[in-house]
This record gives sequence, structure tokens and C-alpha cells, in this order.
Amino acid sequence: MRDTATMVNGFDIASVNALDPELRQIVKRRASLLGPAYKLFYANPVRIVRGEGVHLYDADGQVYLDAYNNVPSVGHCHPRVVQAIARQAATLNTHTRYASELILDYAERLLGTYPDGIGQVMFTCTGSEAVDLALRVARFHTGGEGIVITANAYHGVTTAAAEISPSLGPAVPLGRSVWTVPAPAVHDTGQTFADQVRAAIADMNRHGVRLAAFIADSLFSSDGIRPDPAGPASFLQPVADVVRQAGGLYIADEVQPGFGRTGEAMWGFQRHGIVPDLAVMGKPMGNGMPIAGVAARPEILEEFGHKIRYFNTFGGNSVCIAAAAAVLDVIQTEGLRENALDVGGYLRDTLEAIAMDTPRISAVRGCGLYAAADFTDPGTGQPDGDAAIRVVNGLRDRRVLISATGPDGSSLKIRPPLPFARPHVDRLAEALTDALRTL
Ligand SMILES: Cc1ncc(COP(=O)(O)O)c(C=O)c1O
Repeated sequence: MRDTATMVNGFDIASVNALDPELRQIVKRRASLLGPAYKLFYANPVRIVRGEGVHLYDADGQVYLDAYNNVPSVGHCHPRVVQAIARQAATLNTHTRYASELILDYAERLLGTYPDGIGQVMFTCTGSEAVDLALRVARFHTGGEGIVITANAYHGVTTAAAEISPSLGPAVPLGRSVWTVPAPAVHDTGQTFADQVRAAIADMNRHGVRLAAFIADSLFSSDGIRPDPAGPASFLQPVADVVRQAGGLYIADEVQPGFGRTGEAMWGFQRHGIVPDLAVMGKPMGNGMPIAGVAARPEILEEFGHKIRYFNTFGGNSVCIAAAAAVLDVIQTEGLRENALDVGGYLRDTLEAIAMDTPRISAVRGCGLYAAADFTDPGTGQPDGDAAIRVVNGLRDRRVLISATGPDGSSLKIRPPLPFARPHVDRLAEALTDALRTL
């Protein structure tokens, strides 16, 4: 059986003996020490030893263009972040139970990037913990249990987050109070999606479950990337209205779209003109340091905070906060959001030009430095996950790293660190054109 069933672009351990001897030994050692739950990317896994900017280097000194990693969002090993971490680690690294101003200064700056109404933030170590906390807060605040999600959502690995993550596959059951709706269709104006959410809530109520929250990645990343299906920026407004009319909270999962990735705004939901009740962030927040959090309307945290003590040993520790503050500095001083807008547009234009020359790519979508290219079998017109994976591996062989996404893995997922520049797009395009020729 393919052990990659629940992960697009996973290395199949059954092929381990085809690897070169050194890599084979590492992969076997890894399987024996870490067990089978850990997956590697690519048919020929990459042995990365160093990173800098938008490049990764393997053990043989080969350089790879990183067009995939959104955690080192301001660039691998950015000197400003490295220095901030080193300086803070040499000064103090402690938790949130002392009256340090470091965390307050950061919280103030971070909340300054949110729209009015979002006025408080709680810190965690991972996006999953942040999702977990947001669900607890939503259930406490509303008195409801029910959660509405999209059909191939991914929200994390804790028990509560995994229960709302259908993309983990059939072996991970959804929670009893979890209802799914299809991800927005490519040409939806938002109304169909909102109607589907309304129907899901009605069905939930018929089963005696009250709504607590709707949660969605503002870019629908694991659903195949749906930045703004039919164009109008207010696409998410009708669903937010439906959720609130039903007494639920709108949770924006900004783990992937946040921190300027979309180019148009700091947060993915801002592109739609909505203000969520809770926003969950993580991944790029500390450029690789374990920091994540939940930003909220203060009135929603009020009673929860009075009745429920919250302490997270490592969440919001001094070193992670210093890293996160440096990340904000770099995004602002290097104009990375603006860069995402500019280079992201160039990336989409380039992909569209490539798509014109092949019947295999049926659509290109994207927003800022987050792009998808859908592979379709020209004979059947059906999504072609195999072709997408062959291209992902073809690019890896040409030392350009991307991946694939969507329910059938048929969409290329291109999501580089934000300092990605036009020459990097050109290098990606050259490798992609070459890889397509071999299909
Ligand atoms: C949309 C989304 N939400 C939540 C998470 C969970 O974050 P973490 O892996 O930091 O726990 C992820 C991780 O991939 C994600 O993509």
C-alpha cells in the first residue's frame, strides 16, 4: 500500500532500496528511529544541510531554489532574525508570568497590523495549539459545540485540530460536532458557499448541535487554493454574515495566508473586507521559531479569561518573541508584502504563459506569493494528480522545490519565501518548462 495516501508528494518507503546508498541508510535510520508517521517529500528525498535567503543547500553542496517554504518567510536564516534570537537567548529566555515589556511591545505592534476590533492576542507554540485554543474560546463563548469546515481543510495535529482536518484522510475521523461544506468553487461569488454553510448549520441544528464556529483558511490552501473565486474582494462576507446570524463565531485561519503572503494585505481575511472574531496565526510568525497565536476581539476573551486560567510554558517565551519582532521588522523594512504582490503577479503571468503551451495545465490561480497550477488529463478532462507529482519530482531533480495540493493532489503548490524575486521566477519557469517536456 502507498504509505503516502494522506500526504501529497510523500516519499514511498517501499522504494527505499532504490535510493543511493548513503541516502538509503539515512532514510532507513529515520524510519527506525522516528517511526512510520514521519513522511519525507519527493520520490528522491532531499538532504538539506543549510539555508540562506530563498536557497537551500544539500550535503553535496548543490543549491536548490526554495519555491515552497513559507515558514522561513523572510528568508532562510535571515541575519536580522538570527541576531535577535542570539541576543535574546544570551539575555533572558523565560515565560509569560513576569511583567516583561518585550511581549507587550510585540503584542502592540502585532495588533497594530490587525483591523480595529481585534485588540488582544494569546500566544502558543504551534498553529495547531492556536486552533485548539480558538475552538475552546469559541465553544465557551457561544455555548455551542458545532464547527463548520471545508471538505479538505487542514487545521493541525492536536486532537481537536485533527478532528477538523479532513485532509488527514479517512483514518482520522472528524469530530461528532463537525460538519463539512465543499470548498468554494472556482467561479463562486460567495453566495453559493454561504448557502452551503447555511445548509450545514441547519443540518447540524436538526441533529441537536448548536453552532460554535466556522473556521477556514482564508486562502483555502489545502482545498486547492481558492484566493477569490469569482473576483470580488468581498467573497467571504456572505459566509461571515450567515455564521453570525446563527450565533457562531468566524475564525480566520491565517497560518498560511498571514504575515503579508497575499501581497494585498497583511492578513488574508482583509482582502475580503471582513473582520473575524478570532484569527489564528503561526508558521511565518517567528521565521521558524515555535511561535503562534490567536488574535481576538477582547469581548470574546473576557469571560473565558476570567474563568479559565491560561499558561503555555513555551508559548510567547522571550526568544520566540524577539524572533517574531525581528520578522515584523524585516517584513516592513524590506517591503516584503509589496514584493509578494509584485513578484506574485509576475509568477502568475509566467505560469499562465506556460499553461498556454500545454493542454495539461487547465488553470492557474494565486494571490501574492501563493500560486496553484491545476493539472488535468487532456483525454478525460479529469484532475491529474499523477502528472502534477511527476512535475513536482521533475522540478526537484532540477533543484527547484515546490509541492502539490488539493483533494487529488493535482494542483502545483508554489509558495516561496517572500524575498523571492523575478529572476527566481524565471529560474522556476525554465525548470518547469523543461520538466513538462518529459511528461
Ligand atoms: C491552515 C493551517 N492551520 C493550522 C496549521 C497547524 O500549524 P502547526 O503545524 O504549526 O501546528 C497548519 C499547518 O500546516 C495550516 O496549514
